[in-house]
Amino acid sequence: MKALITGGTGFVGSCLTGRLLDLGWDVTITGRSSKSSYAGRKGFSQIVCDTTIKGDWQTRVADMDVVINLAGKNIFTRWNAGNKLEIKESRFLTTINLVEAMSKGNVRVFLSTSASGFYGDRKDDILTEKSSKGDGFLSDVCMVWENQALKAEANGIRTVLMRFGMILGKEGGALKMMVTPFKLGLGGKLGAGDHWMSWMHIDDLVSAILLLIKHEGARGPINFCSPYAIRNNDFTRAMAHALGRPAFFTIPSWALKGVMGELADALLSSQRMVAGELNSLGHHFSYPEIDMALTHLLG
Ligand SMILES: NC(=O)c1ccc[n+]([C@@H]2O[C@H](COP(=O)([O-])OP(=O)(O)OC[C@H]3O[C@@H](n4cnc5c(N)ncnc54)[C@H](OP(=O)(O)O)[C@@H]3O)[C@@H](O)[C@H]2O)c1
Repeated sequence: MKALITGGTGFVGSCLTGRLLDLGWDVTITGRSSKSSYAGRKGFSQIVCDTTIKGDWQTRVADMDVVINLAGKNIFTRWNAGNKLEIKESRFLTTINLVEAMSKGNVRVFLSTSASGFYGDRKDDILTEKSSKGDGFLSDVCMVWENQALKAEANGIRTVLMRFGMILGKEGGALKMMVTPFKLGLGGKLGAGDHWMSWMHIDDLVSAILLLIKHEGARGPINFCSPYAIRNNDFTRAMAHALGRPAFFTIPSWALKGVMGELADALLSSQRMVAGELNSLGHHFSYPEIDMALTHLLG
């Protein structure tokens, strides 16, 4: 099998690439930087390019069986006008260019990323794939990102929209940013700590992607989260427990907003996603509960 992964140099892309290579796949990644720890591995190749710009890289897409779209500027940055534009364009233009490139080839399945941010701030609502879009910048970004990806269906390509919750892995993402403060005993809940967080262990994300590639019935939005969302204060306790450190602090909402600006609203927003579609499709979770996941990753 031949797969192309945009954003293959990032946290999720690197983990997925490693697993697909282990399974004997040919994996081509795109990224603007030339660094990949898989350089030289059998079946691996990298196209150094900016996928927001049309170019020769698009001709390589047509030849693939599977395309996985992960590229996007990291949202953990100050949300000024320039960064917001880059957050949008890195996702929208990459997706538009991919859909155009796939229209000429043999791609069978297209998996494109979205996020729990699609649902906005929903307090205690239980969020299935049928729940409506929310409000706010991230929700608007996710909607346009998804709508661009869905255009691949018009060319007969089965398209899956992966609405990622917080992906937990050692190599990157939110967990990597949180470990040091927690190890120093400076970890704490955010604001009142009662907002819901949807999360997924990186190994479960990779196995879910493998399932969705194979399962002909999988298409449209799919929540990528464990069966059990958790409130922020319970997540904080679980982190402290896994690291054997205290977590007495509260980071007040006003302080978070002062330091992070508009991003703080996203960090304080509540998304209680459930893994409705993944459960229906028969996905087996290796780490359904937060203590299992954090003990595996941090223990
Ligand atoms: N990790 C999570 O918990 C999580 C949760 C929800 C949604 N997501 C989404 O899932 C995707 C993958 O997440 P991740 O954690 O692997 O992200 P990541 O580590 O930040 O990697 C992002 C990838 O996107 C590429 N990229 C960054 N800025 C770009 C730009 N301006 N133009 C084109 N490409 C750009 C990067 O490659 P180069 O810099 O080499 O070009 C990198 O390979 C992202 O779209 C992210 O928003 C992740």
